[in-house]
Amino acid sequence: MTHHLISNKKKFFDLWAPSYDWLFLSVFYQAVHKRLLEYVYLPEQPYVLDLGCGTGRLLERLANQFPDLRGIGLDLSTEMLRVARRNNHHRPRLIYIEGRAESLPFASSQFDAVFNTISFLHYAEPQQVFAEVARVLNPGGRFYLVDSTVANQAEQKLMAVTKGGIKLYSPTSREHLGVCAGLLCLGHYYLLGPVLLTVFTKAPLG
Ligand SMILES: C[S@@+](CC[C@H](N)C(=O)[O-])C[C@H]1O[C@@H](n2cnc3c(N)ncnc32)[C@H](O)[C@@H]1O
Repeated sequence: MTHHLISNKKKFFDLWAPSYDWLFLSVFYQAVHKRLLEYVYLPEQPYVLDLGCGTGRLLERLANQFPDLRGIGLDLSTEMLRVARRNNHHRPRLIYIEGRAESLPFASSQFDAVFNTISFLHYAEPQQVFAEVARVLNPGGRFYLVDSTVANQAEQKLMAVTKGGIKLYSPTSREHLGVCAGLLCLGHYYLLGPVLLTVFTKAPLG
């Protein structure tokens, strides 16, 4: 069932990829990225992961702002990655690989930050993704989760926009996902309209 849902998402994003950077919606996403950067804290020479990186616009922006940053963009969609690789102005500091957020092909504790923008709403196994993020983060590392949200009363609202549906998470339900994965919520910040940034951290060792 999950495999079927993910395969439908892949087809959907593969079709969207060639026009993704030209649509009005993408202008909106880039405004969100810009706002997100106001809240980003990174150590020196950061190594970061962008989960569901799409066409790589956020990583490009991060690499411009942090000249010693290295990063990996991971995405389900071959076609989104094709666009990201074509527009990669920071090779080999930035690389792009195909994969699923639910099963990350990385060793534990290697990233200083994980970013996830407007992608989490598509995940069929949200708790599994949180567990994977917590695993690959360095102690003290941060997870920047950016997605549309819903008010706390609605807890978790399912909207069948794509065939498999999307899921929007309230601030409280995000915190709950974090706690279950061992991540501490540092705060919630509205970036643009209903798009909410939630920042998590993995407890430092000792
Ligand atoms: C709306 S786009 C956002 C892209 C980018 N983060 C941005 O801010 O422009 C959502 C992305 O999430 C990816 N995605 C959806 N489900 C995924 C999954 N289970 N694993 C990895 N990527 C996924 C899609 O392929 C798509 O590129």
